[in-house]
Amino acid sequence: MCGIVGFTGKQEAAPLLLDGLKKLEYRGYDSAGVAVVGQNGIQMIKTSGMIQNLCEKTQNGSLLQGFAGIGHTRWATHGAPTDVNAHPHMSNDGKFAIVHNGIIENFALLREELKQKGFVFLSETDTEVIVHLLTLYYHGDFKEAMMKTVARLEGSYAIGAVCADCPDRIFAARQFSPLILGVGIGENYFASDVTALVSHTKNVIYLEDGELAELTPGDIYLYSSTGKPIHREPTRILWDMEAAEKGGYEHFMLKEIMEQPRALKATIEPRIQNNRVVLEELEIAEETLKSVNRILITACGSAYYAGQAGKYVLEALTHIPVTTELASELRYSNPIVDEHTLLIVLSQSGETADTISALKEVKARGAKVLAIVNVVGSTIAKLADSVIYTWAGPEIAVATTKGYTTQVSVLYLFAVYCAQILQTATPQELDQMIQQILLIPQMIQRAIDLNPQIPYLAKRYHHNQSLFFIGRNVDYAVAMEGSLKLKEISYLHSEAYAAGELKHGTIALIDKDRLVVALACQEQLFDKMMSNIKEVKARGAKVLGVVPEDMRQILAEADDVLFVPKLSPMFGVPAEIVPLQLFAYYVAKENGCSIDKPRNLAKSVTVE
Ligand code: G6P
Repeated sequence: MCGIVGFTGKQEAAPLLLDGLKKLEYRGYDSAGVAVVGQNGIQMIKTSGMIQNLCEKTQNGSLLQGFAGIGHTRWATHGAPTDVNAHPHMSNDGKFAIVHNGIIENFALLREELKQKGFVFLSETDTEVIVHLLTLYYHGDFKEAMMKTVARLEGSYAIGAVCADCPDRIFAARQFSPLILGVGIGENYFASDVTALVSHTKNVIYLEDGELAELTPGDIYLYSSTGKPIHREPTRILWDMEAAEKGGYEHFMLKEIMEQPRALKATIEPRIQNNRVVLEELEIAEETLKSVNRILITACGSAYYAGQAGKYVLEALTHIPVTTELASELRYSNPIVDEHTLLIVLSQSGETADTISALKEVKARGAKVLAIVNVVGSTIAKLADSVIYTWAGPEIAVATTKGYTTQVSVLYLFAVYCAQILQTATPQELDQMIQQILLIPQMIQRAIDLNPQIPYLAKRYHHNQSLFFIGRNVDYAVAMEGSLKLKEISYLHSEAYAAGELKHGTIALIDKDRLVVALACQEQLFDKMMSNIKEVKARGAKVLGVVPEDMRQILAEADDVLFVPKLSPMFGVPAEIVPLQLFAYYVAKENGCSIDKPRNLAKSVTVE
């Protein structure tokens, strides 16, 4: 949700903190602030709006002097995105400043207690209690005050703190919210994720739940919640700086769409050896897989739609019933699962709060958990029994693209892997499937190359205030993701419907002002889709068809067409979604929207 950074070293901290915040801005961008500790105590500047406002207000950091500091970019939960509610928050005596990501669930009680003790609250945030607790527990020992403070907190937090008495020292603590320490030479960092660190160091330490970290320019000390020293060797991260930059593209989203052939290749190819799917990282025994009688997929947002798309293939290849459930619903649904259930959890960030809660709920009832995650070392990766990583590289645009397609491709690989073990397909069928999966990166490139007309179509349709996406079977799953993509970045009203369902009510909304995006990529359902297209045409709607390049019959009915390559019947989703991603992108661009950071959204939703 929010992004936090911290630095201590031998150079001015403020410009480095601002640079780190720019990299984290996708996590939240309604207000931001920095606090720097120098010889004259703590200086703090914060503002509503994006990081650019903060750069202007601090004159690119030059108004703050000191070699250690903390920064924050916010996605508001408690309190509106105002200057006062922005982080950092400072203690009444100016001795401490803190930044926080997460939610302090017992903040109301703590707030009352602290008010009675005379502390004055300036903001409406849950966070401010933390800084007053630090003052309450400080008797000259910063570490002790941190330990006593976090012991009082319930909920989720990643906290960064500075103290005016310790101008070369920053503290960090975490509980259910990501925090990574960057190990430099003569300087050290912390941040909510590695994208803010890669330009400074590739050596990182993942802070675990309940731990505290003390950073000086030369050392990093880790402590358990009881203050016991912990030793942990740094891990080397594989993402490079280039991956976290725009590389000449106008927006991260466009760059990430274009990166998909490479991301899918990186995700698929190492896992196919001698014409078999080999999942070396899978820590679920073959015997356990053979005992599974139910597969449950859970996730949020686009990851949920990836699960919807993957369900068809998993079911077809395992012959095991598969259901896909929204994590926010599953966790409160009292799910009937047992040790014969396999839970597949999909998450790009690995930090989505609802997904984490659903995982814990289902795991506690005995199910085995397989996570398909992009961020190495993330909370979901740690909680699962086994992880298969999507090697998409860092995804910065809030609206996911390569995150989604790599998730779908891992579901494909896992489905074929299960078919190998369960012998639910013949060797010839398996051979053919593997060849089709290997072709996915090429298919995606072809889907990009086939559609140079999309910017023109966006000009034609961007005024349309209400759209419907329709499809059948797996096309319906793709329609849901295409529709979500459009609404999240262009703010147009858009709904996805199973094409056969439209006539049961929703067709009442169809008139000459609607655009219907009709996905007809499956040969066996093509005629049915043509009937649905005729139904909406008869009511005056415009139709944008989405079809394989050899199914040009649609031109007789559709007003415009997006083409996809001739798809493998089973493994076509990653290529099929690409023209819809591009359509959403160019419509949003025509409408002058903030494409990489759409209003009200955040990339990593770490609150329920
Ligand atoms: C947010 C993002 C979506 C994403 C969803 C799940 O809502 O804006 O793009 O699909 O979270 O995120 P995850 O990191 O769990 O895949």
